[in-house]
Amino acid sequence: MTPNAHAAAASPTSTVVTGIGELTTNDPGLGILHDAAVVLEADRVAWVGESAAAPSADAAVDVGGRAVLPGWVDSHTHLVFAGDRTAEFEARMAGEPYHAGGIATTVARTRAAGDDALEANLVAHLDEAARQGTTCLETKTGYGLTIADETRSARIAARHADEVTYLGAHLVPPGADTESYVDLVCGDMLDAVAPYAGWADVFCEDGAFDETQSERIVAAAAARGLGVRVHGNQLGEGPGVQLAVRGGAASVDHCTYLTDEDVEALASSATVATLLPACDLSTRQPLAPARRLWDAGATVALASNANPGSSYTTSMAFCVATAVLQMGLSVREAVWAATAGGARALHRDTGDGAVGVVRAGARADLHVLDAPSATHLAYRPGVPLTWAVWRCGERVR
Ligand code: NIG
Repeated sequence: MTPNAHAAAASPTSTVVTGIGELTTNDPGLGILHDAAVVLEADRVAWVGESAAAPSADAAVDVGGRAVLPGWVDSHTHLVFAGDRTAEFEARMAGEPYHAGGIATTVARTRAAGDDALEANLVAHLDEAARQGTTCLETKTGYGLTIADETRSARIAARHADEVTYLGAHLVPPGADTESYVDLVCGDMLDAVAPYAGWADVFCEDGAFDETQSERIVAAAAARGLGVRVHGNQLGEGPGVQLAVRGGAASVDHCTYLTDEDVEALASSATVATLLPACDLSTRQPLAPARRLWDAGATVALASNANPGSSYTTSMAFCVATAVLQMGLSVREAVWAATAGGARALHRDTGDGAVGVVRAGARADLHVLDAPSATHLAYRPGVPLTWAVWRCGERVR
């Protein structure tokens, strides 16, 4: 630490955050601390410990006894899009079922949008998420579905999001031949998008891609060096979970309808079960079996699934409150799933610059609640509790 270091523009500044009433670290050695402090130096956490023992720094912020968490890690969003689907949502609330085909509405709007409009919409949603405590976010392509449109979506996403996932396999575009489209997704489209993406995904569901097609897409992406994740078991039981586990996917996302065999497969694998409670509610599906997965020993993440069709919210706090109030997780479990769980789904949970954890060497991402404990996230559902946010050492709220 360099106390009161010179104000030279290029030199890293440090900030000591003191007066933390309750600090959730997600670090097994540190646990939950009280009367704690954290020192941020440049974009890393430099020190964590008792407030009374905190070293000095260039700047100091006393949070007055408030609770502090790692920033939310939102490991599943679809934010490169144009237009909205209010009419579809209204129809659903009047009894229409959700189906994969609604994606085509957003594909048409996204293709028609200019680059600047797409980028501005993405940035507006990222800002909205950051103001609510999200400090690490994944987003996907999947509303382009041509080589040119998927590539520009990935290029725009890569300028702003922490992680980018190629989702050319979101839907067979209306009018396309399915097998030819799968060839494209595994071939020229993959080659064009791969330079901008770290991950690939496939929507393995009735109305999207079947098991054989999904298996091919996962294998092609892995052979191209991309990490893999799968949308599975969203609208009914199906092969998504088993396919993801077999293919060594980092996560299988949705997991709303699971058999006992699916739960066992997740519990005995490194594949994270990423649950999307806002989506389950917004599509009037049952809520994913979080308690069953957790008790079986599966790794559970919570994410927003922010997109204009099935889950139009960036609020991770809403997901945490729902997981506690309606899905049977404790506050501690839900907060872990929305921070460290998401980090694990993105393979960002270990090493220098890890996210979802507050310990020396982690990325300097903090979320200060206007509450004395994280319990208030579920105790006061719907109340905007974010008081301050640091991302990569910069105060963004
Ligand atoms: O994760 N399931 C597939 N994709 C999105 C929905 C996208 C949409 O309806 O526009 C999801 O729910």
